[in-house]
This record gives sequence, structure tokens and C-alpha cells, in this order.
Amino acid sequence: MRKGLISIGILAGFLLSILMVTGVFAAKDVVTFDVPYGKVTFNHKQHAETLKIDCVKCHHTWKKGDTTGKLCVDCHKAKAEGKTLSAKDAFHKDCKGCHEEAKKAGKPAGPTGCTQCHVKAK
Ligand code: HEC
Ligand code: HEC
Ligand code: HEC
Ligand code: HEC
Repeated sequence: MRKGLISIGILAGFLLSILMVTGVFAAKDVVTFDVPYGKVTFNHKQHAETLKIDCVKCHHTWKKGDTTGKLCVDCHKAKAEGKTLSAKDAFHKDCKGCHEEAKKAGKPAGPTGCTQCHVKAK
């Protein structure tokens, strides 16, 4: 019985490692936020790999070098809770904030206009 459980454990571990190697547990290349105001398409790969923005710049509660951990919406809920901003304010501050700063500095920047980020379904 015990031996059976152990081999199930080994098998599960093996399957898990395949999932990780094939990238099933890695970040998606593109994340879409399908919200009522309009769908926001966020190219994660572009921001992390092409633009080389440090993971912890956005995933601010992870330690440097972490590749997984709690996601924004695990903490930033629909309404602010104490010091924790609402999801809307957290994303706006991060996404729009960085784009606005870059634009001010005359550097390549992402969209800052509402409907440049939020695209309404037709
Ligand atoms: C510009 C901001 C930003 C940067 C830089 C960034 N991420 Fe993310 N990441 C996000 C957002 C936003 C999500 C969407 C999910 C959520 O947290 O709600 C996400 C999701 C993820 C996920 C969850 C899987 C998924 O896509 O559903 C993983 C894993 C992840 N990021 C890892 C990383 C790693 C590793 C780096 C650095 C190489 C990194 N991220 C850099 C913003 C960023
Ligand atoms: C484990 C919980 C947790 C996770 C996960 C998390 N946050 Fe936060 N975040 C907080 C808390 C708590 C605060 C407020 C306290 C503070 O200033 O640290 C905060 C503050 C912020 C702020 C305001 C910072 C400032 O300068 O005022 C932004 C913007 C933000 N988070 C965006 C994000 C984004 C985007 C993600 C996902 C990529 C994320 N957070 C993931 C808990 C979290
Ligand atoms: C630390 C800075 C930073 C943060 C944080 C950031 N971005 Fe960007 N983003 C950029 C820069 C820089 C570009 C411009 C890339 C270029 O033109 O080469 C960009 C480009 C974009 C584009 C345009 C993509 C294209 O191919 O034209 C979108 C859409 C976008 N960002 C959405 C987001 C969203 C949504 C978030 C938050 C989840 C976010 N960004 C967070 C810096 C940032
Ligand atoms: C850089 C991209 C970006 C820009 C610019 C932007 N937003 Fe957002 N917005 C987001 C993201 C990402 C979310 C978070 C989605 C979620 O909560 O999962 C969001 C959330 C929201 C929400 C809450 C969700 C909903 O649909 O009710 C509203 C409302 C909103 N934005 C309105 C606006 C308005 C108005 C402007 C212009 C003043 C604006 N946004 C500019 C990216 C952006």
C-alpha cells in the first residue's frame, strides 16, 4: 500500500516536471483582462523579455529570481482593502503610470489613453 503511494508520488512528480519543461506552468505570452470597460491585451512576453522590465517591478511581492508566486488579483481585489489598492487602481498605477513616465521622458512608451488600452467588443 505504502509502496503504491510512493510510486504515485514519483509518477506525479514526473508528470509535473514535464508540465514545467513544456511551459504549461510558465507565464502566458499574452494576458487578456476581459473587463466591462473594454478588453485590455497585455503582452507579458514583450514586457518581460523584449523590454527587459524586471519581474519584481510588477510582481512587487516576489523576491528577485522568483518565477512564480501570488498574482496581482490574489491581493488586489475589486475594492481596496486597507492599504491594498483595488485591482483597477493597482493596474492603472503600474501600467498607465509607467507608460506616462516614459512618455514624459520622451522614451518609447505604451498607451496612456483609455481606449488605446481598453478595446470595446464590437
Ligand atoms: C510589466 C509588468 C510585468 C512584468 C515585467 C512581469 N510580469 Fe508576470 N505578470 C504580470 C501580470 C499583469 C500578470 C497577469 C496575472 C495577474 O497577476 O493577475 C502576470 C502573470 C505572470 C505569471 C502567471 C502565469 C500567467 O501568465 O497566467 C507568471 C508565472 C509570471 N507573470 C512570471 C513573470 C516573470 C518570471 C517575470 C520576469 C521575467 C515577469 N512575470 C515579469 C505583469 C508582469
Ligand atoms: C501578496 C499580495 C500582493 C500581490 C500578489 C500584489 N500586490 Fe500590489 N500591493 C499589495 C499591498 C499590501 C500594497 C500596499 C502596501 C504597500 O505599499 O506595499 C500594494 C501596492 C501596490 C501598488 C501601489 C504601490 C505604490 O507605489 O503606491 C501597485 C501599483 C501595485 N501594488 C500593483 C500590483 C501589481 C500590478 C501586481 C501583480 C503584478 C501586484 N501589485 C501584486 C499587495 C500585493
Ligand atoms: C515599467 C514600465 C511598464 C509597465 C509597468 C507596463 N508597461 Fe506596457 N509598455 C511599456 C513600454 C516601454 C512599451 C513600449 C514598447 C515599444 O514601443 O517598444 C509598452 C507597450 C505596451 C503596449 C503596446 C504594445 C504594442 O505592441 O504596441 C500595451 C498594450 C501595454 N504596454 C500594456 C500594458 C499593461 C496592460 C500593463 C500592466 C499590466 C503594462 N503595459 C505595464 C512599459 C511598461
Ligand atoms: C495602460 C493600459 C490602461 C490604460 C491607459 C487605462 N486602463 Fe483601465 N484598466 C487597465 C487594466 C489592466 C485594468 C485591470 C483589469 C482588471 O481589473 O482585471 C483596468 C481596469 C479598468 C476599470 C475597471 C474594470 C471595469 O471594466 O469596470 C475601469 C472602469 C477602467 N480601467 C477605466 C479606464 C479609464 C476610464 C481609463 C482612462 C482614463 C483607463 N482605464 C486607462 C488598463 C488600462
